[in-house]
Amino acid sequence: MPTERREPSPTQRDDIYYRFLAGAAATRLLQSVVDLNLPQLLASKGALAADEIITALALQPKRGSKWLLELRHVGLLEELSDASSSPVKYRAGPLMRALFYADGRMEFFYQDFLRISLNAQALDLVQVLRGLPVPQIPYPPQTLAEAHALERWMRDTARETIATIEQAITFEGIQRLLDVAGGDGTMAIHFARRYPQLHVTVFNLPNSAYIARQNVVRAGAGERVSIVEGDFRHDPLPQGYDLVQFSRVLADWPEDVCRMLLDKAQHALVPGGRLLICEPLADDNPDLTVAWEYKYLHYDDFGVELYKPLATYERLLSQAGFHILKVNRKTPDTIHAVIVAQRQ
Ligand SMILES: C[S@@+](CC[C@H](N)C(=O)[O-])C[C@H]1O[C@@H](n2cnc3c(N)ncnc32)[C@H](O)[C@@H]1O
Repeated sequence: MPTERREPSPTQRDDIYYRFLAGAAATRLLQSVVDLNLPQLLASKGALAADEIITALALQPKRGSKWLLELRHVGLLEELSDASSSPVKYRAGPLMRALFYADGRMEFFYQDFLRISLNAQALDLVQVLRGLPVPQIPYPPQTLAEAHALERWMRDTARETIATIEQAITFEGIQRLLDVAGGDGTMAIHFARRYPQLHVTVFNLPNSAYIARQNVVRAGAGERVSIVEGDFRHDPLPQGYDLVQFSRVLADWPEDVCRMLLDKAQHALVPGGRLLICEPLADDNPDLTVAWEYKYLHYDDFGVELYKPLATYERLLSQAGFHILKVNRKTPDTIHAVIVAQRQ
């Protein structure tokens, strides 16, 4: 006899079940759109009828029609709202407009992360869980080329993150900012330009520090931005700062490393100095968390539970002797939360 099943309701059960399957289908649909250069086709020709798309992409007509319908279901295509046009024409839908530039190229970060996610999805998870060797993405980056690749992701997506940080804190009274793991210096250069009283130290591993140093020289910001090389797992952080920033750093590391980093931040701050954490929270970003943690499952340099809920940060900050001043949660403009805390 089947055992009794309680909650959720039948509708919720089916919705949950199909949401799982739809996620996998949507990933493949997105990759097919990239592989077939559909966004470029629409960017160069404008809205097209189904037959025109199918011919231009050399698709089998019946399968092509089904594919176009699926692209509409997931928001990659939409019908041109001009009712007079016959046959119906299709143009980039909301998802395609969000992920691709006007010329049809996909933003580098989205393309690269899609590629890595699909590589992971192509592997047999049971075999992976039982120890199948998987080509590894080392973290942190080991070579200059790997550091360039990571810092490009960060640079390309920095503008939104900077705006999120500036919403949460005013830099007016701050003289000395330590940007721990501060990427290629993009944020430091921006803050130094915008706030004339500010001196910024970027702390990073040697390869990324080298890239940052080049950017600082190119930007003519050498007097106000300095670069310190180090590995925060083993080296102390420099000291005497009004503000220490971890932007998009703590979600790369498990709790024990984060705890150590917050202790080091305590020592880097002057009494009463502030700490700023900018990260996507697991409780605000469930889909992002599943996608990234699925990737990390395959790469052994990454630890367990890197995306954390707010409660974990609250606990870690309190244990490290910080008092939380402010938490800005995710908004329609940003996936990140910003936590500002003060050294007690
Ligand atoms: C995800 S990026 C964030 C960069 C920047 N904070 C931003 O928001 O644009 C992570 C950064 O952590 C740095 N990093 C990783 N491991 C590190 C370590 N052990 N010591 C110092 N920096 C490290 C990387 O080089 C990279 O710049």
